[in-house]
Amino acid sequence: MCGIVGYLGGSSAAAQPVLFDLLKRLEYRGYDSAGIAVMNGSIQVLKTKGSVNNLMSETPILRGCCGIGHTRWATHGKPSSKNAHPHCCDTNKIAVVHNGIIENYIEIRDKLIDLGHKFRSETDTEVLPHLIEENYNNDLESSVRQALSMVRGSYALAAISSNDPDKIVVARKDSPLVLGLGETGFFIASDVSGILKYTKDVIFLNDRELAVISHNGIEITTLDGKKVDKKIETIKWNAESAEKSGYPHFMLKEIFEQPDVIRETFSGRMSAEGVDLEVVMPDARRIIITACGTSYHAGLFGRYVIERFARIPVNVEIASEFRYINPIVNSSDLVIGITQSGETADTLAAVREVNLEKSQKFGIVNVPGSSITRESQCLFTRAGPEIGVAATKSFTSQLAVLLLLAVQLGRARKEMSTADANDFVYDLKQMSGNIQRVLNEADNIKKCALVFADADQFLFMGRGANYPIALEGALKLKEISYIKAEGFPAGELKHGPLALIYDGVPVVAIATEGVTYEKMLGNIKEIKARGATVIGIANESDTKIEKYVDRVLRIPDSNPWISPVLSSVVLQLFAYYVADYKGCEIDKPRNLAKSVTVE
Ligand code: AGP
Repeated sequence: MCGIVGYLGGSSAAAQPVLFDLLKRLEYRGYDSAGIAVMNGSIQVLKTKGSVNNLMSETPILRGCCGIGHTRWATHGKPSSKNAHPHCCDTNKIAVVHNGIIENYIEIRDKLIDLGHKFRSETDTEVLPHLIEENYNNDLESSVRQALSMVRGSYALAAISSNDPDKIVVARKDSPLVLGLGETGFFIASDVSGILKYTKDVIFLNDRELAVISHNGIEITTLDGKKVDKKIETIKWNAESAEKSGYPHFMLKEIFEQPDVIRETFSGRMSAEGVDLEVVMPDARRIIITACGTSYHAGLFGRYVIERFARIPVNVEIASEFRYINPIVNSSDLVIGITQSGETADTLAAVREVNLEKSQKFGIVNVPGSSITRESQCLFTRAGPEIGVAATKSFTSQLAVLLLLAVQLGRARKEMSTADANDFVYDLKQMSGNIQRVLNEADNIKKCALVFADADQFLFMGRGANYPIALEGALKLKEISYIKAEGFPAGELKHGPLALIYDGVPVVAIATEGVTYEKMLGNIKEIKARGATVIGIANESDTKIEKYVDRVLRIPDSNPWISPVLSSVVLQLFAYYVADYKGCEIDKPRNLAKSVTVE
């Protein structure tokens, strides 16, 4: 949600092109408006409604080696040039970019108006430059500190002042911020994928820390002024993984990366004993998984496999609900937060809730250095940077980690024999190659997708571990193509959703081999009898399915607990080709942002 950036280069460096480039790389965090402020004696601000491309197309060249920038996902005030960041104080001597929400902004704004400040936008952020100006006492750092002592809410912010040139002051509380130390200067971004092209040496700011970036280096203190020594961390992701590399969209590239991603997810985690994960906690009496969106669907899948292999009861909770249901969590429970970004506010809040109960917890996360990694032990999914707003490779890597976890818990609790674990690990090792075989069928999947691309509604259905995959297939399609799509457990249709079936409505039925296969065929018959056009996802060796459905998309034969991963890839491609046919902004769907850092 909103990307903030900053750059301070040597005195002959040009900040503007670097800021544009950083903003383009963070655009998946929000694309309602964009803006930059560059210091050159005075502060020069350029901002516009819409994407960074809009900004770049109408922008004169600004000189100066120091600047900040912002790409916005609107919360307070509609997307417009007036509400775009950076925001300035009355004298234009202070400019601020901000990601987060200032909760007490109305109260602060009213006081500042009484003191004569004039506001130009409807945003909460605009109070910050005015408050810094009101508290200005000859240096930017202490004025920012003073201003922040008066605000409530969340922020990652960067501020510059023409009274204190060639200096950027940044601070964070509950919104992410990373500083990069490169050969050509210092970089600031909301997450690492923004600055990977320039440097892999980074410092992650923690909550309530403030940094001053100047030609003398970076100085970090707590908000109340205590010096902090921070470690410089080296990010292992390679810079190319955050580029499109010839693909028309990041989403398609990320779908095609999945064979490599899965190999990386498994690398070093399979041993002679079965599985060897860094964090496990096998003594839990119950597991509570909490997550949002796609990660929640992964959690639902986790429930099936953990209960099956380890016989531990698992509850799966939508993070935004979990916090407010007054959850009953015991010290014998293990809470697992699943999040690609590691920054989703609802998931972080749900996992923090658990601290109060002293139960065990850990995260399953993709982004190194993200907030959840600073608060909990974590298992990394190792999917690399995911730029497309629609989660793809992060989802299958979450499924892969959950499969590993289920096996390891099963072994640790003696619910799974060594022989069964070894057989399963053998099957897991085929997963990457089998995903590649699904990808080799992309043209067939595309042909099928184009037949249905003009439909105005889709249903997805599955049973058992395929049910979360049906939910995820529907989410993928709706978020990037804007077609109404819902996922259902197939056995539940007759309890209501069957009323949605009419002549010709496309229904995607995941009918792969497993204990519920015959039941699925029965459910397919029920919807066919009512006129649905059924696209079946089935195993290669299935000779029956053609008689039941109108079209078949095949996946390689594999273990029934692993085939949901393969079906997911089919559904990702299906959604991609429908959205592409419709000409949708695939990597940046309307109203969405990759990392949801507000509740
Ligand atoms: C899925 O395509 C979406 N990007 C969204 O549902 C996402 O999974 C959700 O916002 C959770 O994000 P997280 O995994 O980063 O916590």
